[in-house]
Amino acid sequence: MDTLTDGVVTLERWRPEDLDLLVATVAASLEHVGAWLIWATNGYGPAEGEEFLTGAAERWASGEGYEYAIRTADRTLAGGCGLMRRGDGREIGYWLAKSYTGHGYATRAASLLLGQAWRMGTPHVTILHDELNTRSGAIPQRLGFTLHHKEAAADALAPACSGNDWVWRLERPA
Ligand SMILES: CC(C)(COP(=O)(O)OP(=O)(O)OC[C@H]1O[C@@H](n2cnc3c(N)ncnc32)[C@H](O)[C@@H]1OP(=O)(O)O)[C@@H](O)C(=O)NCCC(=O)NCCS
Repeated sequence: MDTLTDGVVTLERWRPEDLDLLVATVAASLEHVGAWLIWATNGYGPAEGEEFLTGAAERWASGEGYEYAIRTADRTLAGGCGLMRRGDGREIGYWLAKSYTGHGYATRAASLLLGQAWRMGTPHVTILHDELNTRSGAIPQRLGFTLHHKEAAADALAPACSGNDWVWRLERPA
């Protein structure tokens, strides 16, 4: 599904023409996003944006991941999110430009991805975040996930991260 909406936020599959806006949006929130997400820790320019968009198109084609721009009702780019393969389930990820936090947009985006996961027949969905990233952790809690386990971070750490990840999980409704 290329577009998902709840009337407040619209998730749109990333397109090559999103490059300039993507780069400008991440660059304007670099400290906020890069504190927690390593891909934005050391700057974000056209090369990084292009690499992401190319990779997102490949991941979409292979079914590895469905990544979307989060747009508000006036079509402004508020952030990004994705529904990625993780084991036999899927994992939701998200980020928002700093000025778009505090309105429930990421929770709405995650809820839309959750609906998509269930429609695809996914048996369970996880959300993973660093234990210090409490704003991220509030999202699975709002959506009824339960804490499944804690694990050491597998990837390089962004500067605000402790290295301990919390993994929340929700089973597909019967
Ligand atoms: C993680 C991140 C997306 C969370 O952003 P957020 O604004 O807290 O999340 P939401 O958009 O769901 O908004 C929730 C806030 O809006 C409020 N809100 C208003 N209307 C709401 C609604 N209809 N539904 C849910 N929340 C609503 C909530 O009370 C909450 O505010 P609070 O934190 O003051 O209690 C954001 O902090 C971010 O981009 N961080 C950097 C990147 C990152 O860490 N990504 C995750 C890596 S694991």
